[in-house]
Amino acid sequence: MTNSMISVVLLLCGYVRTEPARFDNHKVLQITPHSSEELEQVLAIHDLYDLDMWRHPRMGNHSLDVYVEPEKLKSVLTALKNLGSHVKIWIDDLQKLIDQEKSSMKRSIRFPYTSQGRSQGFNHFTYHRYSTINQYLRDIETATASMPSVNASVFTMGYTYEGREVNVLKVTRGDGESRPSIFIDGGIHAREWIAPATVLYFINQMVYWDDYAPQLLNKFDWYFAPLLNPDGYEYSHTTYRLWRKNRADHSRNCYGTDLNRNFGFRWNPSVGGSTNECSDVYSGSQAFSEKESQSLRTFILSNKQNMIAYLTYHSYGQMWLYPWGYTSAFPQDWRELEAAAKAGTSALAQLYGSNYIVGSSTNVLYSAAGGSDDWAKGSAGVKYSYTIELRDTGKHGFVLPVDEIEPNCRESWRGLAEFALSLNTNMRRKKIGDRYKSRL
Ligand SMILES: *[C@@H]1O[C@H](CO)[C@@H](O)[C@H](O)[C@H]1NC(C)=O
Ligand SMILES: *[C@@H]1O[C@H](CO)[C@@H](O)[C@H](O)[C@H]1NC(C)=O
Ligand SMILES: [Zn+2]
Repeated sequence: MTNSMISVVLLLCGYVRTEPARFDNHKVLQITPHSSEELEQVLAIHDLYDLDMWRHPRMGNHSLDVYVEPEKLKSVLTALKNLGSHVKIWIDDLQKLIDQEKSSMKRSIRFPYTSQGRSQGFNHFTYHRYSTINQYLRDIETATASMPSVNASVFTMGYTYEGREVNVLKVTRGDGESRPSIFIDGGIHAREWIAPATVLYFINQMVYWDDYAPQLLNKFDWYFAPLLNPDGYEYSHTTYRLWRKNRADHSRNCYGTDLNRNFGFRWNPSVGGSTNECSDVYSGSQAFSEKESQSLRTFILSNKQNMIAYLTYHSYGQMWLYPWGYTSAFPQDWRELEAAAKAGTSALAQLYGSNYIVGSSTNVLYSAAGGSDDWAKGSAGVKYSYTIELRDTGKHGFVLPVDEIEPNCRESWRGLAEFALSLNTNMRRKKIGDRYKSRL
């Protein structure tokens, strides 16, 4: 190929790059059925029109948020009207929210990010891209090398379908002592941008020794994996804001597996998942069919010995949920899990009054098998395992405005800290010198 041919090809590629999908007049409806029978019928309409349920009904409050494309709107509204359900147009024009998000992200680059190890100049109150997040983790690692009280190291747990790194940052006191550990992740679901932002903020608070940090680092070793599904996350930034799954190509014009249906404890697509590759909750061809869930499995299994808690951050709905998700039965130690969660949510509420619901996944929400929290407890034996649904309660849903990142992060940090400090760590303590054996 000649040089000029190459430049023509490059030019074409540039033009072929697709514009992000638009959501003009796409709506989110808040539906409030009057009874559980009526709820069943609403769910049947949801299935019939293949709608995307943004917020699921709970026990004791049957209201739900459902996203509807303009082509389906008229028939869906008619069906709901015939049923007599109470329907509110909750989000009238999704594109408007997305546009606002975009312009406020541009504005919030007030503190430009530099890679000169100036991690303190990192702006935590905007949504960052994959490469910036990874650079941040590496910068933190570098910065802590000269800190006397904290040690942070990046480990690559594995690689995604499209070849991106799935990274975790281990943060410790760096005094050679091994403590019980807490594993925290975010971003299993691509569109829930507030989750990675929250985990990054936790890292900052911990490393820069903010308020609770000394206590937390004296009591625990910490793992932070801010972005478990970077392929989906990048796709939600570049192409389709509402993408949920990873980006595995199922080669029938359908992409993506719902990673939070793919974990191998009581994996079962017929419980809250799907065997349809095109579905938003496709469970995968089998448990752990996906590279991203495999990465997490391998890492946790190699480090589970002293692991006391696993927290996976999602949005939205403001809930602190413990297993099980696959069944309505409770784990035998549920009272301890509930008490620890409540220590978190009541501390969290003190800051801005945000109300979080605590309970088991199935009993608060709906049953869904294959979640990472069920697996962490059921298979890896991590006692305190939770799914945390961050802000908000539906006003903006997944498109949480940039100016809510800061209060969300502050209250979540307080919740995490009080949760962790409430835990009883009478586990067998490991001796100095028992450190990482393998870099994965
Ligand atoms: C049910 O939940 C919705 C959404 O969170 C809320 O707006 C509504 O007030 C709740 N209704 C009751 C009766 O609690
Ligand atoms: C920091 O942590 C890494 C990984 O756990 C370890 O290899 C290294 O020795 C630690 N450094 C210090 C100074 O403790
Ligand atoms: Zn989620």
